[in-house]
Parts: sequence; structure tokens; C-alpha cells
Amino acid sequence: MSHKETVRIAPADGKLGVLIPGMGAVTTTFIAGVEAVKRGLAKPIGSVTQFSTVRLGKRTEGRSPKIKDFVPLAGLEDLTFGAWDIFEENGYEAALNAGVLERPLLDQVREPLAAIRPMPAVFDSEYVKRIHGPNLKPKGSKMDYAQMLMDDIRKFQESSGVARTVMIWCGSTEVFHKPAAVHATLKDFECGLQKNDPEISPSQIYAYAALKMGVPYANGAPHLTVDAPVLTQLARDHKIPICGKDFKTGQTFMKTLIAPGLKSRMLGVSGWFSTNILGNRDGEVLDDPGSFKSKEESKLSALEQILQPELYPDLYKNVYHKVRINYYPPRGDAKEGWDNIDIFGWLGYPMQIKIDFLCRDSILAAPLVLDLVLFMDLAQRAGMSGVQEWLSFYFKAPMTAPGLYPEHDIFIQLMKLKNTLRWMRGENLITHLGLEYYD
Ligand SMILES: NC(=O)c1ccc[n+]([C@@H]2O[C@H](COP(=O)([O-])OP(=O)(O)OC[C@H]3O[C@@H](n4cnc5c(N)ncnc54)[C@H](O)[C@@H]3O)[C@@H](O)[C@H]2O)c1
Repeated sequence: MSHKETVRIAPADGKLGVLIPGMGAVTTTFIAGVEAVKRGLAKPIGSVTQFSTVRLGKRTEGRSPKIKDFVPLAGLEDLTFGAWDIFEENGYEAALNAGVLERPLLDQVREPLAAIRPMPAVFDSEYVKRIHGPNLKPKGSKMDYAQMLMDDIRKFQESSGVARTVMIWCGSTEVFHKPAAVHATLKDFECGLQKNDPEISPSQIYAYAALKMGVPYANGAPHLTVDAPVLTQLARDHKIPICGKDFKTGQTFMKTLIAPGLKSRMLGVSGWFSTNILGNRDGEVLDDPGSFKSKEESKLSALEQILQPELYPDLYKNVYHKVRINYYPPRGDAKEGWDNIDIFGWLGYPMQIKIDFLCRDSILAAPLVLDLVLFMDLAQRAGMSGVQEWLSFYFKAPMTAPGLYPEHDIFIQLMKLKNTLRWMRGENLITHLGLEYYD
């Protein structure tokens, strides 16, 4: 512990295991990317942990170390991967199928990718419709599935020799569910696992297994998983960090850049129409109304929270907000997101903004996976447990303490993230007051 450190952070010694339910486009783009970076073939663009700096002290001090030099993070060379999927393809085949990265790059990292053979999945076609695969665990109760997943985790840890493990969900989006009675207490939940309660989703079985094994859990999809009382409590009781939900990558990323800007100038918004076309497997799953509902809820929440119509009724009381996702196979992973924003200014005069974001879903998501894995491991070593609100920067629907509204403004989220790192290291928090420069 350095003389200023406010929390004791255990060193990042040894290998870090990264376990991922779902080995599709995001997972393979992430793993192939890490392997390419390790070999010097490409750079981890978009990763805050790898590129961003954190200013310390006054502007005149000139102290701006890289985050990765300021807090002890695991190095990329220490990451070891394991995954589950309903399909049997190895990581190299799955990456080719996903069609995100080009073959010449994939061929250079073929060996480590091909070595990842997905473990049989816990899957329920009531929760993810439209896709069916053969690589499933033998039939059992939901409690049996949880035990099988714990065995998988144990075997992975033993065979890979990792010192620590984190789990991050990059599997398909499950259908929309609200927390139910079975999610109230651990007793209810474990009884529900024994009795195959239909309200317990596969992702919750993975999360339960992870938390029971002391493994931090991050949720990259919009469905509930750990955002249910029983699992947040379990995380707190076992002193394990959790975070979610839904990677903030394309259109919602844009929304959380632009909406705070309009609000900062007190410009009104009367409507915001967002539509997307995408043609990857994620798009196919989201074509199902139940999975789309999970995504829609997550995408809709950000704007209202940022604009705060209750504080600014003249500007934002009647915003008409619509989000559409259309499955359009020819585009594959190269999503196109259009936004039409109807705004109004001085004396109520209307204006329009149009955005056409030709993005690449998994290229935007992969660096978020890397950062979340490294920060969740850091949080665990720093003894920070339960919901990690400082990681809301990465999510469309950030988890918070009960009764607290989530902070969606990306610039506030970034300040919160960096101030958390400063706080960990006993550095002054930055308020941007700056009066001292004029004394
Ligand atoms: N790419 C982005 O920008 C982005 C942004 C936000 C959220 N997400 C979410 O991340 C997730 C992954 O996206 P993707 O583009 O890689 O999707 P994908 O369809 O390519 O990959 C998901 C994989 O999960 C597997 N799967 C489904 N249920 C499973 C289970 N129960 N156990 C194990 N494997 C299971 C599927 O077989 C598939 O291979 C999705 O939920 C998506 O909504 C992605």
C-alpha cells in the first residue's frame, strides 16, 4: 500500500482468467484483438485502460500518467480465455462465421483462437428464440446446471493455472423479464433452481455459479441477470463486484454524447427517432419481440434520464422517443444507425439534426470488454464489492443502488470513473473548480 492509497489493492500477479458465456461476434473480436495486440499486429484502439491518461493534481503539475501505469491492472499477456456456446465451433471458426475481422488477420492468430473450444452451454429456448445449437449440457435441474457451471469454472482454473478469474456475458440477449418473487432472497432463488422456476434465466444460472465461485460478473447484454435483488445481495455478501447492463456502443453512445450537449445549452427536444439495420446473429436474435423488448427498454431509458423532463418541462416534457432495430442480413456486423432529432431553440423555433452512423458493432464493443475485464479484476483486488457504478461509462442501462437513478451522461460517467481511480490511489479528486489558478 503506497502512503497515499485509500484502499489496499492486491498486486495483479499471475494470470487472469476471462470466462465468457457466448462466443459470437463480440467475444471473438475481443479475443482475436487481444491476441493481435500481443503480437504487435494492431493497436487496442478504443480501450480506455490502454490509452487514456488520468490527470493528477493541478493543471500546472504536468502529471498525467496512463491509467494502466497509475493503477495495477493485469497485462494483456496475462489474459487467458474460456467460453461457453451452444455452437461447437472453436474460436477461429466462430470468428470466421462472425465475419467481423478479415481472414489475413485471423490467420495470424489462428492458433490461440482455435485452442478455445466452447464448453457446452446452459440454454433455454424460452429465453433466446431464433437460434438452436447442439452444444448443450445434459438435461438436469437448474441447480444441476449451476453445479455443472461451477465444475467448468473449477476445471478451467485448474487447467489454465490462472490466479484470478472474471466472467463477462457476451451471449445473446434474453427475452424481457422483470424481477419475480424467486429473485427476492437466496433461499427463494436456490429453491427456484431446484424446482426449475421458469423465471430463472440461463444467464442468471451462469451469474449465480460465478458469484458462488467468487468470480466477478459483468453483463454486456440488456437482460436482467445480476440486476435482481438476490444476486446483488449475493455479490455483496461474498464481496464480489458486479456490473451491467448492455454495452454502450453505437447509437446509444451517440445519444449520450449529443443529448447532454443539447441540454447544456438549454435547447429543447420534441422528438428523437432512432432506427438501425444490422445483419449479424445478434440482429437475428433481436428480431424476436421478447429479446427486442429487453433492448428497447435499455435503449429508451438513457434519453429520459439525461434530459430530466421533471426539472425542465418547457424543454423536454413531451419528447417523442422511438427506437427501432431491423434485422437486415446483407449488412452483417456493419450496422447503420440513423437518428432524426427534432430540436427547438430561441422562441421555440424548430431545427433538425440527422445522424447516420455507419458503425461496426463488435469493433466498438471489443475494447469495452477488455476494459471491463481489467477494471472488474482491479475492483476485486481492491475489495470493492456489489454494483460498480463507476463502470456505468460502459453501459446503456447502468446498474445502481436501489432507488438511485442511473447517471447516463457519458462525461459525468467518465469523471466518475477517473475520480474513482484517483480515490483508490489517494489522489485529490478533480472538481474543475480551478479558482486556485487565479489567487
Ligand atoms: N456488439 C455490440 O455493439 C453490442 C452492444 C451492446 C450489447 N451487445 C450484446 O452483446 C451480446 C453479444 O453480441 P454479439 O454480436 O456477439 O452476438 P452473437 O449472436 O454474435 O453472439 C452471441 C453468442 O451467444 C451464444 N449464446 C446464446 N445463449 C447462450 C447461452 N445461454 N450460453 C452460452 N452461449 C449462448 C450464441 O450462440 C452466440 O454465439 C448480445 O447480447 C448483444 O445484444 C452487443
